[in-house]
Amino acid sequence: MGLPHGGRLLASGCFQCHGTNGKDGGFDALSGDGQIDLLNKLKEMRLKNAQENIMHPHARGYTNEQLACIALYFSKQPKL
Ligand code: HEC
Repeated sequence: MGLPHGGRLLASGCFQCHGTNGKDGGFDALSGDGQIDLLNKLKEMRLKNAQENIMHPHARGYTNEQLACIALYFSKQPKL
């Protein structure tokens, strides 16, 4: 799906809080979660009100296809 490194490049916007591998960022670990599961969460967070959810502004800036690439990237990182 998309460019070979597309997922990592897009996911770099998440590294600050979730870690480059999706687990050392201090916040919720994403690595090894299912792509569909992550994608559904991101779509949900995109719809929520900004004040309710810190993730809202981060999920908002991406299209469905971009979120799918990001979810795929994190789903491929080894779990803890
Ligand atoms: C400014 C810090 C920050 C950035 C940047 C950030 N997140 Fe988050 N993320 C959080 C915090 C804090 C939570 C926990 C929020 C909560 O529980 O309400 C979270 C929760 C999540 C969850 C839910 C995890 C779960 O198990 O329920 C997912 C998925 C997620 N983030 C993905 C991403 C992705 C993908 C990006 C990049 C597009 C990203 N985040 C960028 C701080 C951030």
